[in-house]
Order: sequence, then structure tokens, then C-alpha cells
Amino acid sequence: MRITVPGDKSLTQRALILSALADGESRLSGLLYGGDAESTAGALRALGARIPAIPADGSEIRIHGVGLRGLSKPGDVLDLGNSGTGTRLLMGVLAGSHVTATLDGDRSLRSRPMARVTKPLAAMGARFEHGGEVDRLPITVHGRHPLEPVDWPSPVASAQVKSSILLAGLTGGAFAMITEPRRSRDHTERLFQSVGAAVVCHESEGGWRVELRDPPARIDPLDFAVPGDVSSAAFLLAFAALGGVGDELTIEDVGLNPTRTAFIEVLRRMGAAVEVVMGSSPAAAEPVGAVTIRPSTLRGVTVGGEEVPRLIDELPLIAAMGACADGTTRITGAEELRAKESDRIVAMVANLRALGVEVEELPDGMVVEGAGRPLEGTARSWDDHRIAMSLLVLGALPGNRIDVSGSEASRVSFPGFREQLQRISGRHVRGRET
Ligand code: S3P
Repeated sequence: MRITVPGDKSLTQRALILSALADGESRLSGLLYGGDAESTAGALRALGARIPAIPADGSEIRIHGVGLRGLSKPGDVLDLGNSGTGTRLLMGVLAGSHVTATLDGDRSLRSRPMARVTKPLAAMGARFEHGGEVDRLPITVHGRHPLEPVDWPSPVASAQVKSSILLAGLTGGAFAMITEPRRSRDHTERLFQSVGAAVVCHESEGGWRVELRDPPARIDPLDFAVPGDVSSAAFLLAFAALGGVGDELTIEDVGLNPTRTAFIEVLRRMGAAVEVVMGSSPAAAEPVGAVTIRPSTLRGVTVGGEEVPRLIDELPLIAAMGACADGTTRITGAEELRAKESDRIVAMVANLRALGVEVEELPDGMVVEGAGRPLEGTARSWDDHRIAMSLLVLGALPGNRIDVSGSEASRVSFPGFREQLQRISGRHVRGRET
């Protein structure tokens, strides 16, 4: 069976933001039609960008950018919903603009740390007012132009932090340099290159260094087809590897940026039969290709260290797969999971235990023992799309009987996920929309 998955969440949000800031008309296709993309598009509209409705079928839209200095004060609070990426990237954009705006979000987003971006942006000269707790939304950004140069050593390997600083450098016309302890996804760097904002990247003493040395006064529009989200594909690849599809599954037109694909290496280490065929357009801003997988008996795996940023969003799924694999699965070096849409360590440990799986919680990960029998019980999404989808995958495997409450959380990055599982498995998939 050959399928595609919804557009990449990280790329969709970056493409929308850069198109809104460009001089001229951008053409974007394959955009994610999902909660997070809608939140970021809505905030950009409120800031004066004319962004058409995002089509559900991935067809092309055109965005006439307002220019790097063209955003205007919104009439209301910007509601970023569940989107951490949208919030942190827009804080960077606003920091270098003459615009004051308040950002807020849902309960999950309000619980997530924001000082990781407000600190470097304040060092560049932007001002932040906290409407509630320090380090949490709602936060009002008072932008300034021009901003001061910054050379920021980030304690976390976070593409959101890196991108926020780069975007502030772009709108604020300031040198922006950041060193991250490990290399995180580089979508912003690649798209910056496409719009004429050259970024220099290299290994350095403190880790991986990214530099916007010469911020341009204007950026070019984008002509970009967003590939399928490899993090969304991961759930279906895992499902097929574990025998949910019965046959071979190929996911086409999926993004294969090497800073995002460590999950494919993990699948191989677990014993899965995976084949990757790269697409034929090496000039494209992002590598794209097809991934084929066949069912296999999987063994436990050890995941940690340098590869963590390259599979950070797949870790709940790897824990879920560990419950169906032979032997022990050990995840370490992943304390960042505690700062995601939920505390993903707590959420997966609680859910797997509720299904009778032996799990040990670690400060920076977890150890999961393969159950060696069908899984049964009730699990919940913790209002987190990736927790919901990890459990829906387990629940849809033949022999398992799992009720997943709050499964509609998957809409944030993969609308229609349960239906897609049903289509590729030919079975009914249980899930409660509470
Ligand atoms: C994202 C970066 C990652 C990832 C998130 C999307 C991005 O977060 O978990 O889903 O688009 O930049 P961090 O940068 O905070 O690790």
C-alpha cells in the first residue's frame, strides 16, 4: 500500500511566517491542515498578514508578504492554541518589530517554559511583560528596532530557541548567533537560505554554532512544496513494522531532512525491514523521498545521547513500540520530553503501566520491558497529540484492546489519524473523543 501523510508541522509554520514577512508573493503547497498550522496562520493574520485559508487537500496558496517591517499591532490577544513552535518563533519575529502584542495559548501551552526564548530576546533589547507566572504565557512582547547583536549559548538543543533568535535577528536587523549543545533540526537555516538570508553553520567548542552575520533589509518570497511530516509518518511506520498493516507500507513524498530521521535508524536497530528511496530533486530546500516498511519481530533498543534531538518527537512512540518488542527499551538523555505538550515521560510511564507494561521512570527518560502478550486497558492522551497517536497505534494492533480517551488531540499535527489507521489496517480503531 502506498500513502502520503499531512504536511510537515515545523516547515508549515516556518513557511507561513517567512512568506508573511517577504517582499512579494510566495507560493506554498502541501501545508499542514491541522491545529498548530491554523494557530500560527491565525496569529499572522491578526498581525496584518493576508493569509488565505489553509486548504485541506494541500493545494497551493499564494501569500503576499507585508515585508520585514510591515506587521501591525493586533486588535486582540494572539491565541496560539497548542503551538509551542508558533509561540516561540513569533516571539522572535515580534522582538525585532515595532509591534506590541500579547501571546497566549491553551492549558498545555500555558504550562510550557518560555524563558528559554524571552531571555535571549531580552538580551537583544526586546521587553517582556508576564500576565501570570514568570516564564509562562500569557506574555506581552514589546518589540524594538533595531535590536542589539547577540551571541547566545543555549543550554538546550532546541530548534525553537534557535529559530526564535534567528527570526529576531532578521526582523531586528541584528547579528544573531547561537551555539546549541547538539545540533537540532535545521529547517529555519535552510528556508532562510531560500529567501536570501544567508546563515553560516559549523561545529564549535560549545557544540553547533549558527550565525546570521548579515541580516538582509528584505527577504525574497518562497516557492515551496512542504513535504509530508516524517514525525507523522513515524506512527504509521511503527504500526506497519509491528504487524498492523499485514503487508508492505510505503509512505511517499515525506521529508527526509537528516536532522529529523534518526527514528528510521532506530527502526533498523529494532530489527525492522525499512527501505529509503531519496527523491530526485537535490536542489530542493529540503530532502524528500519514500520510506517502505514490512512487518518484523522487533527487539528492544537503547536510545540516547547525540541522536535525541533528531528523534525528540518520536520518543513516546519508541516507548510504545518497546512495550511490543522483545526485551528492554532504554531511553535516556531526553529530559526535554518533560517540557513538551505534556510531560511525555510521566504520560507514557502512566499509560504503559495502565496497560500492564513494566516501566521504570528515569529523570531523563524511561526503561520499558516488552510485555510479551496483548495489551489491554484504558489510556489517555494527556491532551498531547503525540501521546494520543502513540496509544492509538498500540490500540489498533491485532490482539490489543485499548480505550484511548482524548484521542482527538491528534488533530494538532495529523487530522484524520484514526481514520488513516483504520484505512491501512482494515480494522475499527477504538478511541474516545472526550
Ligand atoms: C520544533 C522543534 C522541537 C519539536 C517540536 C517542533 C520546531 O521542539 O519538539 O515539535 O518546529 O522547531 P524544540 O525545539 O523545543 O526541541
